[in-house]
Amino acid sequence: MRASFLQSYGAPLDVVQVGEQPDPVVGPDSVLVRVRAAGVNPVDWKIVAGYLQGAMPHHLPMVPGWDVAGVVEAVGPAVTTVEVGDRVLAYDREDHVQHGTFAELTAVPERAVATIPDGVDFTTAGALPLAGLTALQLLDALEVGAADTVLVHAAAGGVGGFATQLARLRGATVVGTASEGNHDLLRERGVTPVLYGDGLVERVREVAPEGVDAVVDLIGGDALAATPQLLATGGRVASIIDADVVHDLGGTYVFVRGIASQLQSLVDLVASGDLVVDVSRTFDLEQAAEALEANRDGHTRGKIVVTNG
Ligand SMILES: NC(=O)c1ccc[n+]([C@@H]2O[C@H](COP(=O)([O-])OP(=O)(O)OC[C@H]3O[C@@H](n4cnc5c(N)ncnc54)[C@H](OP(=O)(O)O)[C@@H]3O)[C@@H](O)[C@H]2O)c1
Repeated sequence: MRASFLQSYGAPLDVVQVGEQPDPVVGPDSVLVRVRAAGVNPVDWKIVAGYLQGAMPHHLPMVPGWDVAGVVEAVGPAVTTVEVGDRVLAYDREDHVQHGTFAELTAVPERAVATIPDGVDFTTAGALPLAGLTALQLLDALEVGAADTVLVHAAAGGVGGFATQLARLRGATVVGTASEGNHDLLRERGVTPVLYGDGLVERVREVAPEGVDAVVDLIGGDALAATPQLLATGGRVASIIDADVVHDLGGTYVFVRGIASQLQSLVDLVASGDLVVDVSRTFDLEQAAEALEANRDGHTRGKIVVTNG
């Protein structure tokens, strides 16, 4: 198959190439997917850089990418939930990092696979899994409900875009940090925008004088450290960035898991028009390195997607 791959770690434009790689092995409970779209997440360029080698076993040559949407090409003998020809999406993180989704084909464990409803295209579906599941699992960890005022850091990015919308769907009041250029977008989603950086605490307190009930941390650093000054009495915090700091703050660290039933509920919300997937840029598979590089600048609005065919 044709795939993007790396033989050594480094910056995407230096190490990610496109060429022939062996077709994936289809295990007894695996689903072979012909990839039509694969969302780009910051973890992808971090893996390409070699930063996650201490967190899980890595093997070269490696195909990057964890999100996928496409068509089932074959199934293992134990698979019961999908059939050849079905349109599916998945969050394809496995215990070892090697066989990713920026390729013509990928093999995904059945437990991670959901079905794409009619009316949702591959690019939209491919942008959803990792960021959408992360947002949902953060809100669940914080038990966000209608009575809450929630602060979402990095509210215009991949995870932030989904977290703000899902919190609004639960009836919460939502404040989100973003640069000025994204403030109108946040307002359109019913989110009160706040500029990040120096003076953040004062700006949040202007719009939430009692403090917020929950902080969704997607940034870490000074933003996470400011949590005690941002929270109302009894408030909660969850982070996907810094486990040590959030634990010291009495909060929860979330590491996203590929739960098919949750992914199905998210893509069903997309189909019903309740959840919008904002794809700001697409790149062809041949330009996977450029797609990773574009995400690396840290200011992606919504999602970047690698498309194929
Ligand atoms: N633990 C996990 O399971 C898990 C899961 C998913 C993601 N993550 C991590 O979470 C982080 C966010 O992921 P993502 O997919 O949402 O990234 P992303 O889409 O690349 O985030 C881009 C957004 O970050 C905003 N931003 C940049 N600097 C900021 C700052 N100092 N304060 C507030 N916002 C800022 C940008 O807003 P402007 O353009 O307006 O500046 C942009 O909208 C990444 O580090 C990722 O690796 C962890």
